[in-house]
Amino acid sequence: MEDSPQMSVYEPQYQTFGVCQIEISRPFCLVIFGAAGNLARRKLIPALYHLFKDKLFQEHFFIYCTDRTEMDTLQYRAFIKQALKESFPKDFNTSLWTKFSKRLYYSCFNYQRAESCSKHLKEQLPDLELKHETQGNRIFYLAIPPSIFEGVIQNIGSAGLSIETGGYVHIVVEKPFGRDLDTGNKLNQMLKTYFREDQIYRIDHYLAKETVQNMLMFRFANSIFEPIWNRSLIDHVQITAAETLGIENRAEYYEDAGVIRDMFQSHLFQLLALTAIEPPVSFKADRLIEEKIKLFRSVRPFSPEKMDEQIVVGQYGKGKIQGKEVCAYREEIGVDPASTTPTFAAMKVFIDNWRWNGVPFYLRSGKRLSARKTEVSVHFKPVPHMMFSKVMDEYIEPNILTFRVQPDEGISLSFQTKRPGTRVCLNPVPMDFSYQKEVFLDAYEWVLLDCMIGDQMLFMKQEEVELTWSLLTPVLNWLEMQKDKNKYPNYAAGSSGSEESLHLIQKDGRLWRPLEPEKGNGNSHSAGFRSHKH
Ligand code: BG6
Repeated sequence: MEDSPQMSVYEPQYQTFGVCQIEISRPFCLVIFGAAGNLARRKLIPALYHLFKDKLFQEHFFIYCTDRTEMDTLQYRAFIKQALKESFPKDFNTSLWTKFSKRLYYSCFNYQRAESCSKHLKEQLPDLELKHETQGNRIFYLAIPPSIFEGVIQNIGSAGLSIETGGYVHIVVEKPFGRDLDTGNKLNQMLKTYFREDQIYRIDHYLAKETVQNMLMFRFANSIFEPIWNRSLIDHVQITAAETLGIENRAEYYEDAGVIRDMFQSHLFQLLALTAIEPPVSFKADRLIEEKIKLFRSVRPFSPEKMDEQIVVGQYGKGKIQGKEVCAYREEIGVDPASTTPTFAAMKVFIDNWRWNGVPFYLRSGKRLSARKTEVSVHFKPVPHMMFSKVMDEYIEPNILTFRVQPDEGISLSFQTKRPGTRVCLNPVPMDFSYQKEVFLDAYEWVLLDCMIGDQMLFMKQEEVELTWSLLTPVLNWLEMQKDKNKYPNYAAGSSGSEESLHLIQKDGRLWRPLEPEKGNGNSHSAGFRSHKH
């Protein structure tokens, strides 16, 4: 698909939100495949309800939900009402719900079968579109298992539903985009058969997280950071996405995916890109994506000989999370008792370009770790001459700039100050900016809204997907060859990951940042007071 048709001119409308003006949705019909599943119930519908509550929808819209679970519209509404009450125990508003629910429809059919898909959508959508005056704008959201993406895309396309007739037609796919380079390309081929690239919205919800977006503002709207953002002053960067959650009830998906596909291919590599890209020429989707593509091209491929120096993996055994006993991965329902799927990985990545040559980026992510924490920390080099070494016997921690993606969203910079009333006693203090008191949209609210207004800034292009798969497919193949050697489980639930992951960074003379906030110190990780040398 290549040509884009003439669209009627649309005048954007705005709504005040906090202190900003946000463009509100255009009229739309949103079709959710997999509407009875976890993603729809826990993330999508609550996000839609919130956007509606915040008056960020045009009055002309409806949500057409479909799945294979036998229900009618009234039963589905009751099912969703319950889910929303659970999501917003204090915030559920009955009169708002009554208005919202009138735009919610459910139809049970097997969308994996071409005939049934075409029949239901073609029979039911036009009447609803007329009723709600949605002006031909349609969004197809695939909240379904990745294994059936291609079939459903084909069914939508072959029914002629990807063709734009006056309004836009967008399709939304969630990561993982395939399971390696080959399957990623096949999925893309299927999308491209029926949709143009500007109709395809590949979601990585991490890109829509408030602090992740703020990384761009922080780097490119403040002139003081650019001169220091390079190999001369930065020693290394750490990117962590730690979860206390296990795999919940997603064994079937996770057994096949594992942590590399689930977290690294998209979430961690996108965080890496936003930390390391060159300044885009303008704040436009295409310009930003261009820079991310250049960055992914500069990531040094993992060579088979050095793989074990740069990558370690792990799988959780039983342990305690927040004082509660939890089972080992191999004991989770639906998981093979001899599974070799990794639930944790740490890797050292290099970027071979002018700015970053020689600066290691340490990435780690895992399930069932001691704390939930996603952050990017930029570790500056120590001062060139330690003039305090004669009077102090301790190591002085260099400056660290931390983007706290979650929880306690914010940014902090640690630096050394003199402790008052002492002669030479340094105190690392954080200069801290916290989002805690700000109102902001949740990641799914942003991506849904952007898809409705046609802004692709927070979405991924196929080339990014291809490049990240090219980097990680050799890693996945190597892990496959190693799998019999892995002695799983090799970390306890509630710990900070495998021993080998500590060595990965320690052998370079560095330490991972702690996962848990230091006691009495909020969420900042300053290293406490230094003592005098006597
Ligand atoms: C998803 C992964 O993409 O991201 C999950 O499939 C993971 O396994 C989740 O738990 C983490 O998202 P968040 O927003 O909770 O950090």
